[in-house]
Amino acid sequence: MAEKRKIVVTSALPYANGSIHIGHLVEYIQTDMFVRFLKLTGEDAIYCCADDTHGTPIELKAEEMGISPEELIKKYHKEHLKDFRKFLISFDSYYTTNSAENKEFSDKIFNELKKKGYIYTKEIEVTWCPNCNRSLPDRYVKGKCPRCGAEDQYGDVCEKCNATYTTVELVDPYCTICKSTPERKPSMHYFFKLNMFGAKLDDWLTKNRNLQPEIVNYVRNWIKEGLQDWDISRDGPYFGFKIPGEDDKYYYVWLDAPVGYVASTANYCKKEGCDAEKDYWKSKKGRIIHFIGKDIIYFHFLFWPAMLMGAGFNLPESIYVHGFLTVNGEKMSKSRGTFFTASDFAEKYNPEYLRYYFAKMLSRKMSDIDLDFADFEDSVNNELVANLGNFCYRVLSFLNKNFEGKVNDIDENKKLIEEIMAKVKRIRSAYDDINTKEAVKEIMAISDLGNRYFQEKEPWKMIKKDEQEAHRVLGLCVNIVKILSILISPVLPKFAEELQKQLKAKDVSWDDINFRIRDHEVESEKILIEKVEIAEEQKFPLDLRVAKILDARQHPNADKLLILEIDAGEKRQLVAGLKKWYKPEDLKGKKTIIVANLKPAKLRGELSQGMILAADDGKNVGLLTVEKARPGDSANFGELKNNTSQVTFEEFERIRMKVMDGKAFYKDKELRAREEKVRIDSVQKGTLK
Ligand code: MSP
Ligand code: ZN
Repeated sequence: MAEKRKIVVTSALPYANGSIHIGHLVEYIQTDMFVRFLKLTGEDAIYCCADDTHGTPIELKAEEMGISPEELIKKYHKEHLKDFRKFLISFDSYYTTNSAENKEFSDKIFNELKKKGYIYTKEIEVTWCPNCNRSLPDRYVKGKCPRCGAEDQYGDVCEKCNATYTTVELVDPYCTICKSTPERKPSMHYFFKLNMFGAKLDDWLTKNRNLQPEIVNYVRNWIKEGLQDWDISRDGPYFGFKIPGEDDKYYYVWLDAPVGYVASTANYCKKEGCDAEKDYWKSKKGRIIHFIGKDIIYFHFLFWPAMLMGAGFNLPESIYVHGFLTVNGEKMSKSRGTFFTASDFAEKYNPEYLRYYFAKMLSRKMSDIDLDFADFEDSVNNELVANLGNFCYRVLSFLNKNFEGKVNDIDENKKLIEEIMAKVKRIRSAYDDINTKEAVKEIMAISDLGNRYFQEKEPWKMIKKDEQEAHRVLGLCVNIVKILSILISPVLPKFAEELQKQLKAKDVSWDDINFRIRDHEVESEKILIEKVEIAEEQKFPLDLRVAKILDARQHPNADKLLILEIDAGEKRQLVAGLKKWYKPEDLKGKKTIIVANLKPAKLRGELSQGMILAADDGKNVGLLTVEKARPGDSANFGELKNNTSQVTFEEFERIRMKVMDGKAFYKDKELRAREEKVRIDSVQKGTLK
């Protein structure tokens, strides 16, 4: 018999200078689902992670908060653990890179690489602040980008053009601590001969079939272009590990960070009595699987495997790369209210809903994934609640009400059973392939089959004619519920656990996916999933702004339309059906409210860049009016934030705004521009369109 694989699965180590946000959670949830699946199928797998605690940003943040880096990383360690627990991320080891084990393994790997001649020292120029009397690493020096000239860029990478460079290449540099002009100073640095590993890395990339081909291709292109040796030391003061034999030189954070994967394994082994190297990282049975985001490919596909090769450790068997999270189609943003820390999100919504939504979005593709709140709400309410939750609840409550919770026999419905088992097979290979999107789709399809079977058999009618047969129908349904609870458990561990409690099913594994429940009694049923309502600030989709009408004239091709020139912060042209209600000369100079994010359209040949809002009571139409607010000011309903992403006319029409007592409302929130209440011409009660 082949020896059992010993699998270490990792997620990238989050930096210990900030909170976990829902973007990070894409990765931790994806990894957690995979590890839970492995364990469910009986694999010997552990999930290891840690905080990434070293480097300049950590040092800077600690300074900003007036605490030591050690205090800072301790604070975030606690917080991260708490947040991960809320989202049911179940690490076997969650450690820190600032640990004795990590120092030990970093030195071990460094010494081994040095011994084999893969490390050399070279004098380079660094940036030195004579005023602060210290060397200035990347984040302590700013200046103009040497490539595009963008101002105020950090010393490592330009945020405008993405160029990478060293601190000494910055044009007109300044020290971010004291603002004075730094000097250049020679310094000895340690380099890793990455260039020597080109052919070996290329070989590993082409032979490893688990890697995503799209990534392999472009990493191979980097190799073809020639790899530069890697500067792995930083001058002190630096928060990190001192290089052996040096007084004031430290490992660059990206050297000891991935070693944190090994140290975290060692932390696990400390508790469990195994050996990180012998059992995992150097063992033939060992399998290393990394999950990372697309921004750190370079480190994980080049530097890290080269280090592992050089030091004689196992190479990763797979490195799964996911894309970035956007919210409502855009980069997460604090000002739009779409930036959620894990803890903010958990306060508003059940964390398992996010797990479900991410599962539904994730596959092996590296494309970005979008958390669209309307879609999130639909998925939870129509799939989780109306399909899965409903089926499980309905079956158990019917069984409890009519059969005292007892299963005797089952309806041997061969066709249905075969159909379900075929899906189970597909679900297993989908999970195995981290294609949770497919897995979840098939699980919902099984639940749907169950619901339909229940509906078609009509046990509530059948029970009156043939009680035994109705009982058998329920017996089959209970078996389907159990199967669903197992299948969904990697995604919804808590839901599955509660459901299994109700089913009195203990210690289930993948092998328990069968139709063998007979002569069994369940517990009383409970509702396990509730509908979700999205917080309103996520939902107001319009960008309402104050606009001053500069000019109004007749549309050349349409009797009822006027063409307006407006100033809404910038000049625009709108077409409006106001001819019947306003004379052009009365409109001139008026300050009103427009929808600024409506998709531009041509109306009878004239461009309309947005739309003027108007109240309508069926008889009259009146515009909104403000006095003090200035053109371009935003108009808001209560505290709801406007959304600037474009909406179509159809989407606009679905938004119900109304007029009461001559004022404009959305839900119960009144429209204001700055502090000023918006008034309305001629209409007291009606709609706003
Ligand atoms: N500390 C490094 C990783 C070192 S691994 C040896 C780091 N930390 S991080 O906190 O910035 O990111 C941790 C992981 O979260 C990375 O894989 C990163 O790609 C992922 N994400 C961070 N923001 C993300 C989104 N908005 N969306 C999806 N994943 C994101 O990088
Ligand atoms: Zn300075």
